Amino acid sequence: MKGIILAGGAGSRLHPLTGVVTKQLQAVYDKPMIYYPLSTLMLAGIRDVLLISTPKDRPVFEALLGDGSLLGIRITYVEQNEPRGIADAFRVGADFIGSDRVCLILGDNIFYGYLDFLRKALSHPSPAVIFGYYVTDPGRYGVIEFDGDGLALTIEEKPLKPRSHYAVPGLYVYNASVIEVARSLEPSGRDELEITDVNRHFLEKGELHVIRLGRGMAWLDTGTHQSLLDAANFIATIEARQGLKIGCIEEAALRTGCVDLDGFLALIESSPDCPYRAYLECIAEEFDSDRS
Ligand code: TTP
Repeated sequence: MKGIILAGGAGSRLHPLTGVVTKQLQAVYDKPMIYYPLSTLMLAGIRDVLLISTPKDRPVFEALLGDGSLLGIRITYVEQNEPRGIADAFRVGADFIGSDRVCLILGDNIFYGYLDFLRKALSHPSPAVIFGYYVTDPGRYGVIEFDGDGLALTIEEKPLKPRSHYAVPGLYVYNASVIEVARSLEPSGRDELEITDVNRHFLEKGELHVIRLGRGMAWLDTGTHQSLLDAANFIATIEARQGLKIGCIEEAALRTGCVDLDGFLALIESSPDCPYRAYLECIAEEFDSDRS
C-alpha cells in the first residue's frame, strides 16, 4: 500500500501567510500542518509515502521530515511544477504507485477520530473508495449520493442544488488503474485535472464505493484564515482536555511499531527542551511501563 500527500498548490486564499511559507507548513496550533495528514497515513498502517510539493517548498519539507527513516517509514519527494489539479497527483506519482493500491490525502485536510474507516478502505476490494461526510453546506464541496450498500450513485462538484448532505473529504483510495484514468483526463473549465472527474469515471463503471464517516469523526480543512484558526482551536481544545496530542508523528511511529522504544528515544533526542519533548518523554515512560 502506497500513500501520497498532496502538498503543493497556490494557497492563494491564505495570502499573505503563504507568500512566505507554504500552506502545509503553517502552524495548526502546536505543529506544522503536514504532521496531521502524515500521521493519518501512518496510523492507517501506511509506511511508504510520497510527498508532492512545489519546487520551491520541496527542500523545506525534506529538511523537516528527511527520508522518514527516523520515523521507521520511507518518505520520497516529487515536485509538481504548477498546480494542475488534485488528479495530477496520479500522473506525477505514477512511478511511485507502480502497480500498488494507493491512498491520496490532501496536505491541508485533518482527520480526528477512530481511523477504522480508513483501514477498511485500504483493504476493500473495490477499485475506488471515497468517503462521505455529513455537512450542513455540501454545495461548497464535491457532493456524493450513495445507496445503502455504499455504491456511489451521483457525484457533483460544488453543485448549486446538492443531491445529498455528504461532502467528499480530501482522502481517496484507488488501485493502480487510477494512473491511466488520470492520464486520460482533460483539464476542466478552471484548467485543473479534477478529482471529481476521476471519481466519476469509476462511478460510471459501478466501481466507486463510499464509506460514510460517522458523526464521531472530525474532518477539518484549513484552506482559509478562519478554517485554519478553527482547526487550531479544535486541536488545542482536545489536546488540553485529554493531555494527548493529535497528529504527533513520533507517537504514531511508536504506536504503529514503525519504531521501537530505542528508536523513539532517538527521535526525542533531536528535539530541544520544550513542551513537545516533555510530551514525548511522557509517552516513552508510559510505553515502557506498559511493557514491563
Ligand atoms: P486547494 O485548497 O483546492 O488549493 P490551494 O491549496 O492551492 O489553495 P487556494 O485555493 O487558496 O489557492 O488544494 C487542496 C490541497 O491540494 C492543498 O493541500 C494543496 C493541494 N494541491 C496541490 O498540491 N496541487 C494542486 O494542483 C492543487 C489544485 C491542490
